Amino acid sequence: MNNVLGLKCVSCGQAFRANEIDYTCPKCGPILGTLDVQYDFKSIASILTQDSLARNHNYTHWRYLPILPIQDASFIPRLAVGWTPIYRAKKLEQEWGMEGVWVKDDGRNPTASYKDRASSVGVVKALEKGAKTVTAASTGNAASSWSAFTRIANLKTIIFVPQNAPRAKLAQLLLYGATVIQVKGTYDEAFEFCCQAAEKWGWYNRSTAINPYLGEGKKTGAFEICEQLNWQIPDYVFVSVGDGCIIQGLWKGFQEFYELMLIDKLPIMIGVQAEGSAPLVKAWLAGAKQAKPLSPNTIADSISVGIPRDQVKALRAVRESGGQFVEVSDAEILLAVSTLARKTGILAEPAGAAAYAGLKKLVESGVIGDRDTAVVSVTGNGLKDIDGVMKAVSDQPVVADKSLEDLESKLSLA
Ligand SMILES: Cc1ncc(COP(=O)(O)O)c(C=O)c1O
Ligand SMILES: [Zn+2]
Repeated sequence: MNNVLGLKCVSCGQAFRANEIDYTCPKCGPILGTLDVQYDFKSIASILTQDSLARNHNYTHWRYLPILPIQDASFIPRLAVGWTPIYRAKKLEQEWGMEGVWVKDDGRNPTASYKDRASSVGVVKALEKGAKTVTAASTGNAASSWSAFTRIANLKTIIFVPQNAPRAKLAQLLLYGATVIQVKGTYDEAFEFCCQAAEKWGWYNRSTAINPYLGEGKKTGAFEICEQLNWQIPDYVFVSVGDGCIIQGLWKGFQEFYELMLIDKLPIMIGVQAEGSAPLVKAWLAGAKQAKPLSPNTIADSISVGIPRDQVKALRAVRESGGQFVEVSDAEILLAVSTLARKTGILAEPAGAAAYAGLKKLVESGVIGDRDTAVVSVTGNGLKDIDGVMKAVSDQPVVADKSLEDLESKLSLA
């Protein structure tokens, strides 16, 4: 069942046995020393084939169990994660004159964001370790997701969020029964504080990037894209980026299916950041190996990150795939929220819509041409940030007096 060979530091290459270490390489530290989970592809190849997948009726991301780091499958939570719908967006294709545009709606996961892919794997690892108390720092989505999975697993959950976490995400946390610490400060400060507390009291920490197993859940979005598009890989994959864990996970997924010879092409990865929170765009343009910390400021709270924790892997994903990081303004993000809603029916939170704003930008600047195909990953549902998405609204409701004459004049129906 478990085909994990071990863990490997992304910076110094030091190899570890899977049970030897929980978080990051001791020599390289938390940001440079994130770990890659390595697999025995030979044994996976004998069980994970296009045919075996076609026969598999488990329509959750656990259909990829042979290539997930699970030792004890009895801990797998019952909430259905993954196999989210992917839609061909004909109206967007027409608008951009593109060969193909697909939108994958990860707001359809149990807690309405991509983060459920990571939390569902993380909770199994916590249970395998015998954890009783778990924690995470998060802009909101990772924490609300984590709280759902840890609650049904009867784990005590302590969450650290920044002061500006949207109310719907706070509501999720509190309803799932987590102890919520609203840190007076930014997400980056909440992250540091959470790590200090986790170390002091020995809590199992799901905070992004430092825990190598989260990206393993996040890679399953790539596996689904391969299958759902009938193994025809798009030229580009667009994803919004905060810490960089989703984009690196997606890239790892495509690479692993390539290694298993399930696909014969790799997509170009485009990381989209908000203009006011774009340390990876800046590092990319400067050709720097590391991102300079900054004070983030964007409406897209989920990608409001000044110190990207998975930066080494995110920069590597974009570099290896021949892609780029692009930045989009808050106005472009809000326009993307309403365009996605009106042209695809998908209501995305600002961070979820940023990826589409990135596609628009690259089409308009001529990087993407009419023969190209692209998948846009929508990573979170719009109802998670009502105040944010309401900023994309220009119309107001018509207040009616229950009089048809009044309605006729207000709707200019005469
Ligand atoms: C909706 C949404 N989109 C994108 C991201 C960015 O993911 P990452 O921090 O892994 O880059 C997040 C992270 O919180 C998110 O919640
Ligand atoms: Zn190292």
